[in-house]
Amino acid sequence: MEVSDLWKSLSRSLFANMDDAFIASFRRPGGANNRLGAWDPFDKTTPYFKFMLFTEAERQPDRFFELYRALGATDIGDPVSVSVKRCKINIDYLFALEEFMFLEKALDLKTVRSVVEIGAGFGRTCHTLLALSNHIERYTIVDLPEVLELSRRVLAKAAPDQFDKIAFIDAADTAAWQKFSADLAINIDSFQEMPPATVKDYIDGLVARCRNFYVKNPIGKYEPASIGLDIDAAKFNDVFSLGLCHDVIDIFNDEALAQARKIYLDAYRPGPSWQLAADRPMSMVPYLQHALYRNGAA
Ligand SMILES: C[S@@+](CC[C@H](N)C(=O)[O-])C[C@H]1O[C@@H](n2cnc3c(N)ncnc32)[C@H](O)[C@@H]1O
Repeated sequence: MEVSDLWKSLSRSLFANMDDAFIASFRRPGGANNRLGAWDPFDKTTPYFKFMLFTEAERQPDRFFELYRALGATDIGDPVSVSVKRCKINIDYLFALEEFMFLEKALDLKTVRSVVEIGAGFGRTCHTLLALSNHIERYTIVDLPEVLELSRRVLAKAAPDQFDKIAFIDAADTAAWQKFSADLAINIDSFQEMPPATVKDYIDGLVARCRNFYVKNPIGKYEPASIGLDIDAAKFNDVFSLGLCHDVIDIFNDEALAQARKIYLDAYRPGPSWQLAADRPMSMVPYLQHALYRNGAA
């Protein structure tokens, strides 16, 4: 299993030393979660970030707040949050609930007893699904060892009553995950950070044996300068060649997004027996797309 240069360097640097102080602060602005989450507010961008988060949180339906309250501890790592309807909301769990509400509409969650997630970050999706669906008996995370250590530690605190349902598999242990099947396979914002051959290995060697596949990834690449980022391209390692959608697009052009979504939906379909059951753009960051595929052969 080939790991991207991006993640080889991140796991050796940012995720190498996971002591209690790290766990207590990794979601603060500037912390390691800026490589796992969607947006790290720092310095001058913090007010814009909080306005967007607050505006998005205020737009949520009542059901969102019921679900949010049922999650329990969402603030491990000390993230930036806003308060709406007496909920202290941070961006990671706002996204997790959007993903959950997409899934519960697209799929009968009562039929989902086993889940396998590839690339889980600190474990927000696992925490959310286990807290909100009591039909799940087994939740397996496949990830790089350094980040598995993070999800293991966060989930022990965030989901102590459900912790014995969770299994953690090192991505390098291909024999372990190639034996697996599950009712639902999940990949969120991480196939785009793996070499195409690795994505193919996961799709052919794991997703193909599952009944449903939920993917939420970027639909293309963008030039940092096109969104006002002054970043040296060399610092990006191999990012332009990672994932399955390599076209460089203008992510603030609705026609470019519509075209890229078609390519994305085709690229992530695991095989000819799989049908697209539902899809929609992510709300706050519409260059990512939710998609659920069903395996007609399973
Ligand atoms: C941007 S983070 C997304 C985390 C999480 N899904 C979320 O949305 O919060 C990318 C994740 O992919 C994982 N990852 C990177 N390369 C991987 C590989 N070859 N196999 C499994 N996981 C990998 C990283 O360790 C990390 O957990």
